[in-house]
Amino acid sequence: MRWIDTLEAAAADKLPEPVHRYFRQGAAGGVSAGEAVESWSAYRFRPRVLNDVSAVSAATTVLGTPVDGPVLVAPSTMHRMADPDGEVAMANGVAAAHSIVGISSNAGTTFADVGATGAPWWLQIYIVRNRSITERMLDAAVAGGSRAVVLTVDTPVVGRKEDTGETVWDLVRPGQLLANLPDGEWTDDDLAKADDLGPDAIGWLAERTGLPVVVKGVLRGDDAKRCADAGAAGVIVSNHGGRQLDGSVATAQALPEVAEALAGTRTEVYVDGGIRRGEHILAALSLGARAVFVGRPALWALTVGGAAGVTRLLADLGAEFEHCLRLVGCPRPDDLTPDLVTTRSMDPL
Ligand SMILES: Cc1cc2nc3c(=O)[nH]c(=O)nc-3n(C[C@H](O)[C@H](O)[C@H](O)COP(=O)(O)O)c2cc1C
Repeated sequence: MRWIDTLEAAAADKLPEPVHRYFRQGAAGGVSAGEAVESWSAYRFRPRVLNDVSAVSAATTVLGTPVDGPVLVAPSTMHRMADPDGEVAMANGVAAAHSIVGISSNAGTTFADVGATGAPWWLQIYIVRNRSITERMLDAAVAGGSRAVVLTVDTPVVGRKEDTGETVWDLVRPGQLLANLPDGEWTDDDLAKADDLGPDAIGWLAERTGLPVVVKGVLRGDDAKRCADAGAAGVIVSNHGGRQLDGSVATAQALPEVAEALAGTRTEVYVDGGIRRGEHILAALSLGARAVFVGRPALWALTVGGAAGVTRLLADLGAEFEHCLRLVGCPRPDDLTPDLVTTRSMDPL
């Protein structure tokens, strides 16, 4: 059995049950969360043969930052419930794997402390109703060395979870969340997500921070084009791990349309949701993604093995991907092309 496949069960022994449930859960009926992994496994490959694969490397760059492999860590809350050192442990694990970590605006660690780890990191921002709170958070992230701003756009309201009994919100303590907000100076209304955003939010973020802006939560080609036209440096094809609109299309299915819409532009495409194997990464990059993000696996790895666990997770997935590069006959990620992939239905190409 692969180590990555043991993590969710091993984490259940270490986490309070409501926290484990919170990490695991999808929104509403759990349709999108439930089908994410399986959707990647529906692709089939058309490998090239008689290509020299004696020197293969998974290394690439993401928005100009060199990484050992195209596997990055998605932003998520509650790191301090997985490990006492929270985001610092996650970032240290990512730094050792030469990858990039997304840090949630609902982090339990200050951006200065994240920056002090030396890990390349990207701030994930929710723009909230009280823009001055968002502005302070952006300024703190810039000061902490964030290399990009990830604007999450699939959350005008938080997806409905059907939790009953004790939930993670009953267990969360001050300091485990919202470490980057001014103490006690805000109301719930200030912090409600802005639900009036348009593409001009991208330019506003770029101007305020001087950083590249990546839009997270895009599932359609026409929206991807609107983001690119508004100056996005990247888009993440994501349905938030199935935690927002349940029944949203699987990211494995949405990726080709988005990649096609952005072909020939400078906007990079990434994808997350259900990526658990080298073969999933191979499919994603062949279909036009520059890199993938993993969410839950990183939380499980942090819970089970701390920073070293995160490093091992990224190294294992990178090694699996490198193995796949050899088998598909392509020595570098940049050699991957959509014709390497077909669907299970055996439709003609
Ligand atoms: C526990 C948890 C918390 C999350 N918190 C955030 C968040 O604060 N901001 C955000 O943009 N996405 C958040 N996400 C979504 C992830 O960034 C990512 O889109 C998703 O987890 C990818 O799917 P995967 O878990 O199947 O890899 C969260 C996901 C989980 C599982």
